[in-house]
Amino acid sequence: MLILAIESSCDETAAAVIRGEGNSLERLSDIVASQVATHRLYGGVVPEIASRAHAEAISGVTEQALATAGVSLAELDAVAVTDHPGLIGALLVGLNFAKSLAVSRGIPYVGVDHINGHIAAAYFEETPPAPPFLALAVSGGHTSLFHVTSYTDKTEIGATRDDAMGEAFDKVGRLLGLDYPAGAAFDRLAAEGFLRAAEKEAAPTDREAVAEAYRAFPKTAAAKRYPLPSPAQAGDALDFSFSGLKTAAVNLLHRAEQLGEEIDRALFAAAYTYTAVEGVAKQLDRALARHPGLEVALVGGVAANSHLRARLTAVCERQGVRIHIPPLSLCGDNGAMIGAAGYYAYLAGERAASDRNASAADTL
Ligand code: KG4
Ligand code: ZN
Repeated sequence: MLILAIESSCDETAAAVIRGEGNSLERLSDIVASQVATHRLYGGVVPEIASRAHAEAISGVTEQALATAGVSLAELDAVAVTDHPGLIGALLVGLNFAKSLAVSRGIPYVGVDHINGHIAAAYFEETPPAPPFLALAVSGGHTSLFHVTSYTDKTEIGATRDDAMGEAFDKVGRLLGLDYPAGAAFDRLAAEGFLRAAEKEAAPTDREAVAEAYRAFPKTAAAKRYPLPSPAQAGDALDFSFSGLKTAAVNLLHRAEQLGEEIDRALFAAAYTYTAVEGVAKQLDRALARHPGLEVALVGGVAANSHLRARLTAVCERQGVRIHIPPLSLCGDNGAMIGAAGYYAYLAGERAASDRNASAADTL
């Protein structure tokens, strides 16, 4: 079957056409119009501007998705759309557009949980994970560990108690002079820092050299220079606190500024990344000990982080389980992942009513 999927929960207007057949999914098109250049001027997403930009872009993006896929409106079997969580004004643009399209074509539409969408990004793989498995969803708004029990259900087994991992990267990155969203630039700067701390001559794009330098990092002098608290919470819960880590980083940077001390930005980015990634690795390791044998999916915008990808791959290797990490194009917000989640919701018999509303919260 053919599904048109729409995503507009934050700062990307996205549309995709996907084909689903049993457990095999194909991305026929996946168009993303990013608003980040606009929001960058303000150092973060401005909700009102996001809603207007979605309204302006959504028709064009959808037309492009259909044209690229070579699929006409008449061939579609259903429309899938993110209806929660996210910015309410932004979500409503996508929801109303998808509803109108479905009603005008006389086809059903399904509402999709944005986080289920991120998890479903893993289903495009040639050997995709099959429930039950563990999913670690890390994005600008979420940092959660889930026990995925079926293609449509999940139980949260750990989560951040405050900031999300991506949000903390963006805020600390801003203080290091990196543009919003800081994630990708932070990733590169940290790679330089790991190499320098290990006194290794290699390009920051040399994944193996950087991973080796990452492993050596705790023994280097640089690691002691910027001590930061782990985001992994103590106790039995598999929870995180990125606010604690972020605040400690912000205080350290401010104190250095007041004392007129120069910060080594690359080494600082490395120390921050190391602490953040090790905290996540620790909780995933504990989650795997409680759910032995389950495979893992690492998803969401922060799943693009090269250090996190390498470190969690090592954790899973040691535990003898497979890790599924989508390609970079499926980590950040996109329409295809919403189509994949919508496809499974459709198969499970879900059909949204015409009075369905959007919700900013994690539950509808
Ligand atoms: O999933 P996403 O596109 O949007 C939300 O649902 O929030 O995630 C965006 C987040 C931003 O905070 C961005 O800085 C972060 O993902 N990000 C990264 C990297 N690429 C994007 N964080 C760390 N390393 C990266 N390479
Ligand atoms: Zn997202």
